[in-house]
Amino acid sequence: MSKLAQLEYFQEKTNKYLLNKLDSLPVNDDKLLEAMRYGLLIGGKRMRPYLAYITGDCLSINESDIDGIAAALECIHAYSLLHDDLPAMDDDNLRRGKPTCHIAFDEATAILAGDSLQTLAFDILANHSFSEYVSTKRVQLIKLIVHASGYQGMCGGQALDLSATGQTISLTELEKLHALKTGALLEASVLMAAECSQNITEVDKTHLSNFAQLIGLAYQVRDDIIDITSSEEELGKPAGSDIEANKSTYPALLGLQGAQQKADNLYQQALQALSHLPYNTQNLSEFATFIINRTN
Ligand code: IPE
Ligand code: IPE
Ligand code: MG
Ligand code: MG
Ligand code: MG
Repeated sequence: MSKLAQLEYFQEKTNKYLLNKLDSLPVNDDKLLEAMRYGLLIGGKRMRPYLAYITGDCLSINESDIDGIAAALECIHAYSLLHDDLPAMDDDNLRRGKPTCHIAFDEATAILAGDSLQTLAFDILANHSFSEYVSTKRVQLIKLIVHASGYQGMCGGQALDLSATGQTISLTELEKLHALKTGALLEASVLMAAECSQNITEVDKTHLSNFAQLIGLAYQVRDDIIDITSSEEELGKPAGSDIEANKSTYPALLGLQGAQQKADNLYQQALQALSHLPYNTQNLSEFATFIINRTN
């Protein structure tokens, strides 16, 4: 399968799973369910699911075990975007080429759709038909996603992001902010897949975790760069919104070239981390390449 075909295959698989899940929910509130569909099913690269699937593939995990993990990760990600775009946070009106959820619906509905997508992730992890071994790992999987998305992960990073807005912070502080707001969920994508393996060593888990942290950081450095270098059409969200909002970003601290150099360094270190693993890691290294070249 070509790289693109593989990416499309996993995107399609994730979309189908999420669509079925939403279709299985009893309709209590049409508007809320429509807003959840809007935030979850329209567009999105499905990078976290993809990363979970290729990590699973690298470790010979059943694809059907990864289905539940991938869908749960995407629910958390979608919720984080609905809330990130709200007036009280980034106040953006375009996402994935469409009006943001609070513009298409209203603020209260976007908040509740985000809340509902967040809990849907736990519904999926609690109810997915995992294989016998992975069923014994449900609580561990929930711990990993909680750590990555809550106070110690994404939400903590979003709080640091907001308090750094309009301030000059150090590179170390910026790195921490990025690692939490974006890196943590990408790291969870790898670690949750690794949790399904019966024979991976702790040392190899550490290499995988290092890889994920490095590409997670690279992902956000690249996000900051393309906010400046890509067009609104390419991004499907407003270009230049970080500068307008006076956000702390890598290009703001290091300049565009410095930021690109940082992304390249992280990429090299990520490949280095993979080189220690006794598995075929080609898909993972290609994922890293994709990340540092992405334009949307
Ligand atoms: C955008 O995430 C926000 C970040 C965390 C950098 P993605 O680039 O994964 O956005 P979608 O899901 O493809 O729209
Ligand atoms: C968003 O970061 C990260 C999360 C939603 C956790 P950004 O605010 O940089 O994402 P975009 O640029 O709006 O997609
Ligand atoms: Mg933000
Ligand atoms: Mg934003
Ligand atoms: Mg951004």
